[in-house]
Amino acid sequence: MDGIIKIEDVSYNYYGKIPALLNVSLSIKEGEKFAVIGANGSGKSTLLQIMNGLIHPSSGSIFFRDNEVSEKTLKDKEFLRFFRERVGYVFQDSDVQLFCPNVLDELLYGPVQLGLNESEAMDRAFEVMQMLNIENLKDRPSYMLSGGEKKRVAIGSVLTMNPEALLLDEPTNGLDPKTQCFLVELLFALSEAGKTIVIATHDLSLVDELQCRVAVLSEEHRIEKTGSAEDILKDEDLLLKVNLVHEHIHCHGPLAHRHIHSHYLFHKH
Ligand SMILES: Nc1ncnc2c1ncn2[C@@H]1O[C@H](COP(=O)(O)OP(=O)(O)O)[C@@H](O)[C@H]1O
Ligand SMILES: [Mg+2]
Repeated sequence: MDGIIKIEDVSYNYYGKIPALLNVSLSIKEGEKFAVIGANGSGKSTLLQIMNGLIHPSSGSIFFRDNEVSEKTLKDKEFLRFFRERVGYVFQDSDVQLFCPNVLDELLYGPVQLGLNESEAMDRAFEVMQMLNIENLKDRPSYMLSGGEKKRVAIGSVLTMNPEALLLDEPTNGLDPKTQCFLVELLFALSEAGKTIVIATHDLSLVDELQCRVAVLSEEHRIEKTGSAEDILKDEDLLLKVNLVHEHIHCHGPLAHRHIHSHYLFHKH
């Protein structure tokens, strides 16, 4: 099997009744950049949480490097550690992720959990702070950080674990354009360093910039299509169907004219 993360026929319902995923199968290759896109409520966050073993499928299975990730397998301490060391998760809401008194402690937390000694942990924390350009924030508590700074720290707290795969839920949400650019460059750098990157997003410009492979979730919580960013972004019917763009009809002089609209796709005449 060549997928680093494999999802086989996974369905998920909240409380046994609210459907969030239906018969989803995916195989994400090692080192690949992969995006799960879909309208609000389509199941993106649920799928990412399943990939990180935070919740478990109602039916179907998930594998990381051919090891099943389930409630049962994660009870094994050795496997839990193996999995947690290798797969990092960046929550949509950075406030959920940041809980230490200051930024430096936030970055030390992971390596210390992994059993690194103090000086090794410090080295990792400083290396990551440099990479993310946040050394000047090291003594700040999270309530004294902007949204963009919090996102960098949240990503940093995962990178200090040096994971093989990174799952990011709506990473550009609420970020200013400069931080968004920084994030795209960072994701490229991490990808070039061989990390597997999985994002959940409805930001089509991010998908375009990252040139990733894409799985499209429908509002019925199924995978509607998978393909290259280029294939997906040019499929207007698909994007309309899954509600990632909408259609405008308006008039230019005597001509009625339709075009599709998103926050990304350019208005074509
Ligand atoms: N904690 C929860 N409890 C109940 N229903 C939920 C919960 N989280 C998500 N859902 C529902 O599951 C579906 C998929 O949600 P989610 O995975 O958050 O979608 P997305 O991330 O694409 O917006 C939605 O109908 C949503 O309302
Ligand atoms: Mg979500």
